[in-house]
Amino acid sequence: MAKIKKIVSNSTKETIQFAKDLSKHLKKGSIVAFLGDLGSGKTTFIKGIVKALSETKNINVTSPTFVYLNIYGVKIPIYHFDLYRIKDKDHFYEMGFEEYFSSSGICLIEWSENILDILPKDTIFIKMTHITEQTREIEITNAF
Ligand SMILES: Nc1ncnc2c1ncn2[C@@H]1O[C@H](COP(=O)(O)OP(=O)(O)O)[C@@H](O)[C@H]1O
Ligand SMILES: [Mg+2]
Repeated sequence: MAKIKKIVSNSTKETIQFAKDLSKHLKKGSIVAFLGDLGSGKTTFIKGIVKALSETKNINVTSPTFVYLNIYGVKIPIYHFDLYRIKDKDHFYEMGFEEYFSSSGICLIEWSENILDILPKDTIFIKMTHITEQTREIEITNAF
């Protein structure tokens, strides 16, 4: 059975802190699939992960909406996808993106809704829900 952990974040800062905690569980080959609407905090969460894994480097993390993929060269390479404009899994395959799943980096995928059925079994899911202006529910599956 998948283990699900539900938390509530009351600020951007708290989300960044949760992300730092989660990053301790990530290793080469980890895949983290984000679910949730625009503004729910996916990119913010990813900023926290990248910050935690980038040691001293200061890396600018933004949603790669127009290029689909940003690559951050930190301790472990991080592949940051934004699949908002990837229509379906065929489009994803056409782009040759599935090779990143078997790489030795970490894949962080925004709008993973668009490729749900091709995600590997051990994918970590982070579902973010907008509650109030400063509050987000964050549901984490498979990480611990
Ligand atoms: N608790 C919170 N967690 C995350 N983001 C929050 C929170 N409260 C407010 N925000 C704000 O919501 C916005 C989330 O944007 P972003 O992370 O880009 O979302 P997404 O990538 O899901 O579209 C940011 O402006 C952020 O500062
Ligand atoms: Mg985003």
